Parts: sequence; structure tokens; C-alpha cells
Amino acid sequence: MAPSPTHADPHALARRALRLAADGHRALVGVAGSPGSGKTTLARAVVDAANDWAGEPVAAYLPMDGFHLADATLEALGRHDRKGAIDTFDGWGFVALLERVLAEPDHPVYAPAFDRAVGEPIAGSLAVLPGTRLVVVEGNYLLAPSDPWTRIPPLLAESWFVATPEDERMRRLVDRHTRHGRTPEAALAWARDVDGANARLIEPTAASATLTVDGGLPVDAA
Ligand SMILES: Nc1ncnc2c1ncn2[C@@H]1O[C@H](COP(=O)(O)OP(=O)(O)OP(=O)(O)O)[C@@H](O)[C@H]1O
Ligand SMILES: [Mg+2]
Repeated sequence: MAPSPTHADPHALARRALRLAADGHRALVGVAGSPGSGKTTLARAVVDAANDWAGEPVAAYLPMDGFHLADATLEALGRHDRKGAIDTFDGWGFVALLERVLAEPDHPVYAPAFDRAVGEPIAGSLAVLPGTRLVVVEGNYLLAPSDPWTRIPPLLAESWFVATPEDERMRRLVDRHTRHGRTPEAALAWARDVDGANARLIEPTAASATLTVDGGLPVDAA
């Protein structure tokens, strides 16, 4: 029987992650999960908790979402209508950045972030600085079983899969899509059809994660 999911306590998870980077080397911890499961929320909370715990900026946040292909590229490839699918990201670029983060601790490594207001990634938005021991990497496809994604798990000290009940994920996705301008009908259709197809690829990848984290309850940042 699978062990029950770990509580999403950012403080406990931050201490666990910092122990992985305790011998002075830089460690990457990956947070995977289906669309709307709460990866971004948890990853940011763990980074904040780790920096609070250490009393100095030792942890950095690195999202796969920064490697969304630009809308113009997706249009040219005929993939814009399913933005968020695995082949709408620059997977090779993301892998190369993770390798750089591990290989280049002596200077800043800049990373793109996805700007949800603009709907595009913006280069050089985030930095992994020389003092950073822990990098919390998050995204849908960190554990996907196809190239180049299979190159990611060997780079991670641990991987955490955020498991969130389907109905709660759907509620969050519809809420977010409507906040970003879709009609309630279009939001539901996108969450069910586009996000849903991605979730069917991602959910089975939970089996290869080091840890399953319960994404169904509010993140306990107390
Ligand atoms: N544990 C939680 N309890 C309640 N709401 C949450 C929780 N985690 C995230 N949310 C909310 O659900 C929505 C999706 O969360 P988040 O952006 O962290 O998910 P995600 O897995 O990163 O999604 P995506 O795959 O689309 O990037 C957000 O509006 C967020 O505020
Ligand atoms: Mg996210």
C-alpha cells in the first residue's frame, strides 16, 4: 500500500530540503504535480521558509514555467490551442539551465519566469546567486517519462509530487482561468480538455517521486 501523503508544511519541508544541501554543495529539489495542484504555492512557501530558517538567502525558486515557448512560436508550430502541453515548453533549455545551476555556483545564473499577466516568459527575471545552497525547482513535467525530461530526476536530490483531489484542482483551475479573462464556460472547457489531458500524463509520474505531499489542504505557512 502506498504511504499516506506528507502534510504540506513548508517549514518541515524546508528543513528536510536544507539537510540535503548540508555539506556545502548546492542541491536541487523538484516539486511536480498536475495543473492547479499547488506546486507554485508550495515551492515558494518552502523557499521562504528555508530563507527564514537560515536567516539568510540560501534558497532560490526556479519554475519550469519560465520555459514556456513564446506565443508567436506556438502559433508557428500550430500548438497555441494547447499551451501548457509537454511539447509547448523548451524542455532542452530547461534541462540545460538545471545543469548550469549545479555546475556554476560561483556566479549568478539567471532564469526566465512566466508572467501570467502577459502570458509570456520573461528572460533574466530570476537569479540563483552564489550563496544559494537549495534550489526549489517546480513544474508539471519534472518526472515525465520522455526525453529530455528523463534527464531531470538524476539532477534532483529529491522529488516531491503534490497530490490534490481532482475536484479541488478543477475548482482552482476554473477560478484562475476566469480571473485571467476567460468566460466560465471557456474556463471549464480549458480545465477539462487541455489541463485534463496534461494531468493524465502527469498523475502516473507520482509513482517515481521521493515523496508525495498532500496538496488538498491549505499550505500551512504558520
Ligand atoms: N493548498 C492550497 N489550498 C488552497 N488553494 C491553493 C492551494 N495551493 C494553491 N492554491 C490555489 O490554487 C491555484 C493554483 O495554485 P498554484 O498556482 O500553486 O498551482 P500550480 O500547480 O502551480 O498550477 P500550474 O500547474 O497551473 O502552474 C492558485 O490560485 C492558488 O492560490
Ligand atoms: Mg504553477
